[in-house]
Amino acid sequence: MTSPIHLAVLGSTGSIGQQTLDVARRHPERLSVVALAAGENIALVRKQAEEFKPRFVSCADRQLVCGDAVCLPPEQMALHPDIDIVVVALPGGAGLAPTLAAARAGKIIALANKECLVAAGAILLAEAKKHGAQIRPVDSEHSAIWQCLIGEPSAPEKLILTASGGPFRNYSIDQLESVTPEQALAHPSWKMGKKVTIDSATLMNKGLEVIEAHRLYGIDYDRIEVVIHPQSIVHSMVEFGDGAVKAQLSPPDMRLPIQYAISYPDRWDNPDLPRADWTKIGRLDFSAPDYGRFPCLKLAIEAGRKDGTYPAVLSTADEEAVNLFLGGRIRFGDIARLVGRALEEHNSTGSPSLDSIAAAETWARQKVSELARSL
Ligand SMILES: NC(=O)c1ccc[n+]([C@@H]2O[C@H](COP(=O)([O-])OP(=O)(O)OC[C@H]3O[C@@H](n4cnc5c(N)ncnc54)[C@H](OP(=O)(O)O)[C@@H]3O)[C@@H](O)[C@H]2O)c1
Repeated sequence: MTSPIHLAVLGSTGSIGQQTLDVARRHPERLSVVALAAGENIALVRKQAEEFKPRFVSCADRQLVCGDAVCLPPEQMALHPDIDIVVVALPGGAGLAPTLAAARAGKIIALANKECLVAAGAILLAEAKKHGAQIRPVDSEHSAIWQCLIGEPSAPEKLILTASGGPFRNYSIDQLESVTPEQALAHPSWKMGKKVTIDSATLMNKGLEVIEAHRLYGIDYDRIEVVIHPQSIVHSMVEFGDGAVKAQLSPPDMRLPIQYAISYPDRWDNPDLPRADWTKIGRLDFSAPDYGRFPCLKLAIEAGRKDGTYPAVLSTADEEAVNLFLGGRIRFGDIARLVGRALEEHNSTGSPSLDSIAAAETWARQKVSELARSL
């Protein structure tokens, strides 16, 4: 019998983290959860620790006692020699330091956090290459592209990222202005953390994913297309030079890309994962996104094209604006306005270092709070 894969789950109490633990629960002989890192949800991380008996835990309470587990910060879990795969399911800027640590330790990284690739993708990928680390995408679109590219010796001509369009895809500009946080948090196809749910409603999420796809697959922005696909069955597509298109299809359930990022190159049977009933699905719709009603998508693609520290400013300004929206301080439409203003006023560094990225992020945070006060 082969020994189980040792997992660190960073962000274990969140949406991706809990679904990763579902996968671990389904494969107890294959997976051993060695480390759990959470934020504020101490009750849940305690419960998870009771069930999985990890060697390491962490949360906002650094004095946390969970059985025999030792408290270790996520960055140290990520590079611990006893960990085989690090699942990075932390949101926003919190994902960068542990992902970099895992890359420098040559780990396999199942990466859900997209913001670290957006802000510091060039540095992260270079570190991973230098230290022999593997970055396996968990985001369903990038996992789909990865699955379509496996075994293809030819470079793709185009990547086609699908987007559900979020809950407001048919709203007018006026209706979008008055969307409340409660409405924006009710996503039609996916159950996710708050930040990524709001990003899905503004289509910023898709914009971040375009930058993520550009970084992961080295494809020009001109050859990455976004299409609205409300059924969320086709998770993304790849077009080749002969016009052939490959797609990965399945009912929307993040446990599939999470499991694949862990099981690769194998596919493990998992009866918990839903099967598509094609006679009931009936039709699959595709349409072009409306950049006028969803300006965040355009802002993201422009920031990606300009590169330098613009993607870091985009990502941080958005994180800040989403927090302000969730706190009832700004309107839904203000998210795009604030991010747009921050990008306009930013002076980027050409090939940024980690320090200049961190400085740009601090600047973006301050700029968004300052702009929000004058709304
Ligand atoms: N959810 C999805 O379906 C989905 C799909 C694709 C990609 N992603 C990406 O995956 C990442 C996580 O998304 P999510 O939806 O799982 O988020 P989430 O539900 O908000 O969960 C975030 C997790 O990170 C922990 N956390 C937050 N801030 C932290 C900090 N500063 N230090 C340590 N732990 C911290 C939270 O802990 P507490 O809850 O204990 O505070 C929680 O465990 C995001 O980058 C998102 O874009 C998510």
